[in-house]
Amino acid sequence: MALNLVMLGPPGAGKGTQAERFAREHGIPKVSTGDILREAVHSGSELGEKVRAVMERGELVGDDLIIGIVRERLLQPDAVAGFVLDGFPRTAKQAGALDEITAARGPVICIEIQVPDEELVRRVRGRRVCEDCGANADAFEHKANALPDLCQNTDRCRSVGPKWVARSDDSEAVVRERLKIYWRDTRPMIEFYSSRPTFRRIDGLQTPEQVREALVAAVASALGTPASQLRSLVMQKLSGVKSGETATPGGARQGNKL
Ligand code: AP5
Repeated sequence: MALNLVMLGPPGAGKGTQAERFAREHGIPKVSTGDILREAVHSGSELGEKVRAVMERGELVGDDLIIGIVRERLLQPDAVAGFVLDGFPRTAKQAGALDEITAARGPVICIEIQVPDEELVRRVRGRRVCEDCGANADAFEHKANALPDLCQNTDRCRSVGPKWVARSDDSEAVVRERLKIYWRDTRPMIEFYSSRPTFRRIDGLQTPEQVREALVAAVASALGTPASQLRSLVMQKLSGVKSGETATPGGARQGNKL
């Protein structure tokens, strides 16, 4: 059985934080549509030029475009034994496409992280990201100019240190627009998922470590498998993958470039 996980929730709920760690700990790729689009913008690719203004306004990019990106990414060999989707699906059309893409892949676990709107706005306004590797830090928890030297993901981060910047869509006005779109387009889709036996909700107001524990417990309960055996599901699936379909364990932004 593959370990297919979809992280659902509003902007700032902690989807990316939890998706990254879960993927790393279970040897599956994290597929973040936001990261893929930001990297495209950063690189100045044709895709990036197409989506830059839409993202800066906090709106959703077109369904067909994002469905094509996710379809192509999930076909990569490293996603055969499972994946963690972060930021997709967000609309009913995307949810329908995901059902179709994953039809022959076993159960898809959907986890909604719940956090009240005002805490979401606080978190997103305080978020800083390392321009080089995408690591996150909370500016409110650190005094000005004293953000941690905690991202060590690339040679540049290790040698000259992280360069902390605010995301261009993290201003209060844009965050409120993103929340408006979440409640209008994404929340009804989550309600649709909520009747499925593999759907679970977790409380995102806990510490990141407590949320991590709740996430692992929720995935295990949805699959009917002890939490300690989740990683072995991936290993068993990988051992069944035909030669030539080599799998690469998931990493922070690995495989996100298009
Ligand atoms: P995307 O990057 O997906 O943004 P989002 O869904 O708005 O989510 P965020 O990244 O803001 O939050 P998160 O839930 O991942 O929280 P995080 O872990 O970072 O999308 C960006 C844009 O791309 C969209 O607006 C759209 O334009 C486009 N796009 C992407 N996917 C699309 C799609 N499918 N269709 C159409 N368009 C699409 O945490 C947030 C902060 O809180 C961090 O600072 C973190 O350190 C902190 N934090 C995390 N957990 C906790 C905790 N437990 N306690 C306290 N602080 C915490």
